[in-house]
Amino acid sequence: MTDDIRWEVLEESTLTLPDHEAITALLAHAFPDWSHWYVGGRSWAGMQPERRVIARDTDGVVLAHVGIRRMYISVGGRDVLVGDTGLVAVAPRLQGTGKGRELMERAHAVLEGLAVPYGFLGAGENRIPFYANLGWHHFDDVVGDYTAFTAEGAGMPMTDQGGWMVLPVAERLEDWPEGPILLNGQQV
Ligand SMILES: CC(C)(COP(=O)(O)OP(=O)(O)OC[C@H]1O[C@@H](n2cnc3c(N)ncnc32)[C@H](O)[C@@H]1OP(=O)(O)O)[C@@H](O)C(=O)NCCC(=O)NCCS
Repeated sequence: MTDDIRWEVLEESTLTLPDHEAITALLAHAFPDWSHWYVGGRSWAGMQPERRVIARDTDGVVLAHVGIRRMYISVGGRDVLVGDTGLVAVAPRLQGTGKGRELMERAHAVLEGLAVPYGFLGAGENRIPFYANLGWHHFDDVVGDYTAFTAEGAGMPMTDQGGWMVLPVAERLEDWPEGPILLNGQQV
């Protein structure tokens, strides 16, 4: 099975409509609560990624996906450049077989290639151990303000305490500023 999987790193501007449709189909399966959102070629939720790591089978079906976009966020009043990471998904039939780890290791390589100071993501509570296991640090008491996406397309202001996770890339974790996070926009 593993030999039948082809991994690719794609720049957003190279994606064709069939690429978007194949990614969208995976996201609808992996996030069933959001299947009304991932329709047709809408292969993103909030901020559109600039790079994607995808795994395909020999028929071109997308089996795993992660999106990354560089953006400045405010942390404790300081601007910090991050590689915002999201749309992390493995096809349900392959979950628990190590594909998520492989996907994120490839995402880490993309973040290193972009030479961002930090990787950044917002994780649901039950996903925090998955990322922590892969080297991401959880700031459990930090409050973050962001714009949540909705299926209607309108952005809604939201505040979450915890779930904010950081991967040191070009800078040290110790140098991540203290204080609340202000995204001033949507995440990938
Ligand atoms: C989250 C997801 C990407 C993980 O992918 P996966 O292929 O199932 O994960 P893997 O089999 O590669 O597991 C990697 C490691 O994380 C651990 N892990 C996986 N899911 C975990 C969880 N929910 N809690 C704790 N540990 C977890 C595994 O035990 C494994 O540890 P090991 O490498 O030390 O043995 C996948 O389950 C998925 O697509 N879920 C639905 C979409 C989703 O929730 N995405 C994340 C949004 S924040």
